[in-house]
Amino acid sequence: MANIHTPIPNLKLNDSNSIPMLGYGLGTAWNKTGDKSQLDQTCVDTCKLALGMHYTHIDGAEMYNTETEQGKAIKESGVPREKLFVTTKVDHNVGDIPGAIKASLSKLGLDYVDLYLIHQPWFGKGQGGDPAELQAAWRQMEAVKEQGLVKSIGVSNFLIEHLSAILETAKIPPAVNQIEFHAYLQRPELLAFHKKNGIATEAFGPLTPITRAAPGPIDEYVAALCKKYAVNPSEILLRWCVDQDVVAITTSSKEQRLSDYLRAMTFKLTPKEIEEINELGKKKNYRGFWAKKFADNDFR
Ligand SMILES: NC(=O)c1ccc[n+]([C@@H]2O[C@H](COP(=O)([O-])OP(=O)(O)OC[C@H]3O[C@@H](n4cnc5c(N)ncnc54)[C@H](OP(=O)(O)O)[C@@H]3O)[C@@H](O)[C@H]2O)c1
Repeated sequence: MANIHTPIPNLKLNDSNSIPMLGYGLGTAWNKTGDKSQLDQTCVDTCKLALGMHYTHIDGAEMYNTETEQGKAIKESGVPREKLFVTTKVDHNVGDIPGAIKASLSKLGLDYVDLYLIHQPWFGKGQGGDPAELQAAWRQMEAVKEQGLVKSIGVSNFLIEHLSAILETAKIPPAVNQIEFHAYLQRPELLAFHKKNGIATEAFGPLTPITRAAPGPIDEYVAALCKKYAVNPSEILLRWCVDQDVVAITTSSKEQRLSDYLRAMTFKLTPKEIEEINELGKKKNYRGFWAKKFADNDFR
């Protein structure tokens, strides 16, 4: 296996911190569904493998029940803390964010995380993203940042209406919104809103066109690009994010794929190639996550 050590570029956030543009996730395939108290050693070992390959951005969440594995992998990797970018997210304890971050830090064995996100906006009494409840939660996010428990604060799965609600009262604007983003869910209005408000976009599910949503209209063109750049489709899709200033969060349980993904850092797509993927991608709409929160034809 090629030992690729191409530095992963950083994106500057609106609070002056920097985020590595390729992240390794401890959700989806790693989500703990059985006994939550049992350590998943495979998850620890694979995360250590990723850290050994110079992935420095590790994306976790309270909801995944893998913060203990995330922390153990970080500790055992021996990578200095300041070289890492660690994310976690609050979901079921969103009513007590100071308590939630302390519990997460304890599981992670860390003094701070680099990025703390509200996992989704559909919480509270109405389960519908009530503006007052979103604003109250955001005030707590600002407080834990001010206490130094988290370096940057942001959100995940927020739509324009949710972002607008918190921006109305925020002292500190969200640094990022982590959303499902790929060629079959391009969300141009949301990305334009992010850009206008200095909010960075993080993509989860970036490989959806070749996994959950395959086959599809971009396949043939992506295959041609694979020949041109001598890479796999996954690297074209990750690069498609990075070349649009979008941070890509992926994952794998396989050493070969983790190594392959890093090839996405070795080339650049041309603006014309990005446009062509976008045009072909518009022929299909697909949402793989949180679909129950949306009407069938709603691809905002
Ligand atoms: N904020 C949110 O609500 C949210 C939601 C979802 C995800 N996330 C975050 O984003 C991370 C990545 O999400 P994702 O898993 O959807 O990312 P993804 O990058 O779209 O997909 C990665 C998955 O695809 C599989 N894969 C890769 N190449 C493949 C191929 N050529 N053929 C078939 N399968 C292939 C991998 O499985 P193998 O193990 O077989 O390689 C891995 O499980 C998560 O771990 C989590 O941290 C956040």
